[in-house]
Amino acid sequence: MPKTVTQSKAMKKPIKHVPFLLLLSFLPSILKISTAIDIINTTQILRDGDTLVSSGGRFELGFFSPGNSNNRYVGIWYQKIPNSTAVWVANREIPVRSSSGILKVMEPGILVVLNDTNNIIWSSNTSRVARTPVLQLLDTGNLVLREANDDRPDNFLWQSFDYLSDTSLPDMSIGWNFVTGVESYLSSWKTNDDPARGDFTFWLDPTGYPQQVIKRGTTTLYRIGPWNGLAFSGQTNSAQDMNFRYVFFMKKDKAYHRLEAIDNSIISRIILTQAGTVQRWTWVDRIHDWIPYVNFPADNCDTYKLCGAYGSCNIANTPACGCLNKFVPKDPEGWIRSDWSNGCSRRTPLNCLKGDVFLKYSGIKLPDSRNSMYNQSMTLGECKVECLKNCSCMAYAQLDIKEGSGCLFWYEDLIDMRDLSSQGQDIYIRMASSEFGSCTETHNKDYELPMFRASTILKATNNFSVNKKLGQGGYGPVYKGTLEDGQDVAVKRLSKTSMQGLDEFKNEVICIAKLQHRNLVKLLGCCIEGEEKMLIYEYMPNKSLDLILFDQTRSALLDWPKRRQIVNGVARGLLYIHQDSRMRIIHRDLKASNILLDTDMNPKISDFGIARSFGGNETEDKTSKVVGTYSYMAPEYAVHGRFSQKSDVFSFGVLVLEIVIGKRNSGFCHGDQHLNLLGHAWTLYKEERSLELVDAYLCETTNLFEVLRLIHVGLLCVQQCPDDRPSMASVVAMLGNDAALPQANQPGFFAGRDVSIAPYCDFVPFAIVESISKPYTYLEKLEANVD
Ligand SMILES: *[C@@H]1O[C@H](CO)[C@@H](O)[C@H](O)[C@H]1NC(C)=O
Repeated sequence: MPKTVTQSKAMKKPIKHVPFLLLLSFLPSILKISTAIDIINTTQILRDGDTLVSSGGRFELGFFSPGNSNNRYVGIWYQKIPNSTAVWVANREIPVRSSSGILKVMEPGILVVLNDTNNIIWSSNTSRVARTPVLQLLDTGNLVLREANDDRPDNFLWQSFDYLSDTSLPDMSIGWNFVTGVESYLSSWKTNDDPARGDFTFWLDPTGYPQQVIKRGTTTLYRIGPWNGLAFSGQTNSAQDMNFRYVFFMKKDKAYHRLEAIDNSIISRIILTQAGTVQRWTWVDRIHDWIPYVNFPADNCDTYKLCGAYGSCNIANTPACGCLNKFVPKDPEGWIRSDWSNGCSRRTPLNCLKGDVFLKYSGIKLPDSRNSMYNQSMTLGECKVECLKNCSCMAYAQLDIKEGSGCLFWYEDLIDMRDLSSQGQDIYIRMASSEFGSCTETHNKDYELPMFRASTILKATNNFSVNKKLGQGGYGPVYKGTLEDGQDVAVKRLSKTSMQGLDEFKNEVICIAKLQHRNLVKLLGCCIEGEEKMLIYEYMPNKSLDLILFDQTRSALLDWPKRRQIVNGVARGLLYIHQDSRMRIIHRDLKASNILLDTDMNPKISDFGIARSFGGNETEDKTSKVVGTYSYMAPEYAVHGRFSQKSDVFSFGVLVLEIVIGKRNSGFCHGDQHLNLLGHAWTLYKEERSLELVDAYLCETTNLFEVLRLIHVGLLCVQQCPDDRPSMASVVAMLGNDAALPQANQPGFFAGRDVSIAPYCDFVPFAIVESISKPYTYLEKLEANVD
């Protein structure tokens, strides 16, 4: 709410002129002026009720009472706007408690406010001296004290624009004069009735490369990132408009930013509210009211260092915090509780002596530049060389993206970033050189994938007709298409707005293009044209397994031989990606909806958007982050973020039990027991009553021995301790012979959503240790390219 100003209850009187300085407040006025004036000298006083009006009539200066207060303050407001809005207050800490206050200029050039007992309660504290000082209210809203015959701004003795209240006007600077030591910053009002300094300040932090900061006391609440030549990093485009531009000035003697009016007829002001937010209000004559134009903070992601070090906030995600690509939460359990304050760390520690590299992250609000260093002339290539030289240089970015020059260097952990897509910037972050080995980076030129023209796909899908939509994949819709030669295809279309989708898209292209197996869905090609990015797969007429398996009527299509065939096929596909393929991949999201079925109900594993490779000859200690769907997720992963092929085996075990039993693990409930499907199957298994699980489709084609064996294999796969679970090679062997099976131990997550883990299960020897940031739906964020 804009503050309002109540004029003196008395009629507005013109300025009184007095002949003699010392006694003036007791003397009657002897000169009267009938027209508004904007200037007074030492022979004149301004009484409560008198006002100065700037020459263009925009601003007025006088005594006023804020809100419901009866206290009187000297302030400046818009002359023509009713219920006027105080943009500046002189004696904001000490009011005049009656209507007999006086404002006057004293020799040799001091502006004072006197109360009714004629005591000075406020003064301009000017140190410079003038022969004939005058006070003038300029049409910018600046109240200046100057030599009568010298109106050059550089020679002002004092100006209100250096001593801000809670309002910044066009042409008013917020920042520093390093020579005089004067700092201009906004400070909030205490209340609508009291303009005294409140809790909040909005200032230019000059430590490191300057950035704008909102503080409560000494605590930083919000930060608008460093100036990048066009805007402050993190300031959205909406902050710029046709009528105003932000200006940033940075030299040895001064650093400031300010709003400049392009169209002077527009009335606009920036205020720091009593709630500690920065708002820009614009006066709209047509509706005769102020409207807020820009607000900062814009959303929760502007909360200072919400996601901790190397975390990045994306308001489109739930939860909004995630780790930058190749970073993992320091405290995974904290992340599960939505406590992100411990942030993230590199999944592979730096090794400066062995040689680090820089990875480019795009679309970022640059991190806190408080202790940054900068160079205004270097090129980006020189920035890299410079940053590489010093092992404590953690990241660099281009300083001025408008000119394409300069560098900004960070020497500490990077904090307070957010994912802003197209409105963000590139930053290059130091990374261990071994980070080049993962699935995404093996995107070398020699892989050959047919490219489709966008026009071909548009035609094949009837311009992405709604009727052709098959469903929604991880990062965009999937359509059915028919190519000109009659071949049916499935087209996965990347949503244009999806940043993490782009990462997954690339990952899928690279991973799956190299995989060839009859139990993996076949990628026929891709299409990358401008904004449009699509993957083209062979079409699976029976769609995904979950649509049949968990459908009461359609599940009848899956007799026992078909179920067996599906289990065997998935097992072989998984064995291939774990062990036999050149890349050795962990799928990370194996589930019924990611198993597609061809005309003969042959299963094909799909959706490699979040799969990770760990290289053919590498040991298992170098895999990476995991994602999953809760009901398929191994407990060591969900709780501790530890991940391996054995967590894929766990998901496979859940899938096997679902296929055999015909029910979902998630949402399963049985009687009044708090057991999920795994717990229920294990309970019956222990009592040798497993056949009770499967009565629905039992008939003469069913091989009861096989049914029992598959349940047993499923339970072996979902055992709580990863080391107890068989590898996929053993699983395929178990499915292919009748040899005796070991006893299954208690499954993980057997009682509903209880994620506790039995203490006897020691995960330490287990080689692949990797943390997750979002256990249920973690998706890698932020495009990371090798620079
Ligand atoms: C690295 O940079 C930091 C920050 O500028 C500096 O304090 C430190 O001395 C530098 N180290 C080396 C080895 O140059």
